[in-house]
Amino acid sequence: MASRGAFNSRIGFILAAAGSAVGLGNIWKFPFEVGEGGGAIFLVMYLAFCFILCFPVMVTEIAIGRKTQKNPVGAFNALGFSKWNFVGKMGILCGVLILSFYNVVAGWAFGYFLEMVSGNFGIGANFGGYINDIGRVGLYGALFMFATAWIVSKGISGGIERAAKFLMPTLVGMILLLVAYALTLPNAMNGISFYLVPDFSEVNLGVVGSALGQAFFSLSLGMGALITYGSYVSKQDNIVQSAAFITLADVGIAFIAGLMMFPFVFSQGLEPQGGPGLIFVTLPGIFETFGGSMGIIIGSAFFLLLSFAALTSTVSLLEVPVAYVVDELKIERKHAVWVVALVIFLIGVPSMIANGDSQFFTSFITYIGAAAPTDFMTFVGDVANDTLLPLGGFLIVMFAAYVWKKENLNEEMEIGFPNKNSLVLKYIDFAVSYLCPVVLGCLFILTVLNKYFGISLFG
Ligand code: PHE
Repeated sequence: MASRGAFNSRIGFILAAAGSAVGLGNIWKFPFEVGEGGGAIFLVMYLAFCFILCFPVMVTEIAIGRKTQKNPVGAFNALGFSKWNFVGKMGILCGVLILSFYNVVAGWAFGYFLEMVSGNFGIGANFGGYINDIGRVGLYGALFMFATAWIVSKGISGGIERAAKFLMPTLVGMILLLVAYALTLPNAMNGISFYLVPDFSEVNLGVVGSALGQAFFSLSLGMGALITYGSYVSKQDNIVQSAAFITLADVGIAFIAGLMMFPFVFSQGLEPQGGPGLIFVTLPGIFETFGGSMGIIIGSAFFLLLSFAALTSTVSLLEVPVAYVVDELKIERKHAVWVVALVIFLIGVPSMIANGDSQFFTSFITYIGAAAPTDFMTFVGDVANDTLLPLGGFLIVMFAAYVWKKENLNEEMEIGFPNKNSLVLKYIDFAVSYLCPVVLGCLFILTVLNKYFGISLFG
């Protein structure tokens, strides 16, 4: 029965990790980042970063997790390099920051499900007013955090993953049908060419930095989420193959979400640079075109499935700080969960009111050399997703290649991998030792100087 047990755990891990990766990052964030990043050129960079740089980082995180069976801080300690556990601590901070705003957006998605149920398609045009209705948005955010904490406290994420096995393919199927519909709409082709025909004159450091941040965010990398999940992986598993599957699934879903969104945006005469409201402004009007009850069914199913996809991601985001508090501070899980969730919810409150409600949080900070101020929610995203995640990825590969040593990483990777001379293993070895450290290190310095200090080293 041993092999059957291993099979079960493998599927369990893949579903959990894919559930963490696939979420608002694919369907909410990816399209608006493409829209703001000049269209196809952003897509090209995102794809390149995911496959060339992030895939090897993912294998490394899972390998460290499986080797040590620990949370991201404990993992560095367990390997005997406690000086490096600051990388894990930074990851935990990142998880806290990301969840603080992610939960707010998840609350919007859930609220939209309720609006669709009641047939309120006008909500799209009223998105700005909707998110400033702090009573409602606060309530949905609180509900979402409560659901996340409840799942993490019961340790019943297994059930969630099994549900995800049916719900995620349903969401994918639905998006594909919507893509087919989108292509029949007037102006659809303008959307497709915006999305798929690159204009290389649009490239600048800002776009490179956001594409890199989006690749890390979308794959749940750079903060130890996959160290934590990797700690549950069995010693017989082929982690390289699992990582490849997770990467393909996540990138594939983001890609089709873009194929759906841009024809919709152009057919409605909207601007692709709509920012974080893009899907929320665009989709209700589309669902309305299906007419009456059909629109209600499709619209509410879509936002319910999106909320569910978000939930499997919020669970993984909360799991990271909770695992740390439980293991390292020796606090009981059932208490730790609620305290950590409450703290993160409170950190999210400024993000809830950063879209007009509070002038202070709406114009929170002006980066040096920037024309306009940045709101609190975007600021937290800039720091956590676009800065700390790639930095975390850089430090994790540096650690694996030069501190823990790549022989140890290779040994862990080769467990469960049938062909030791495979080109994939050779590529990962090369990427972790040279390519990722150099490229991630340089891009980190260039994008930080550019984004926060307005200094561009290249013209
Ligand atoms: N990858 C998730 C998404 O795309 C977000 C996430 C980031 C989850 C980092 C865990 C860790 O929605």
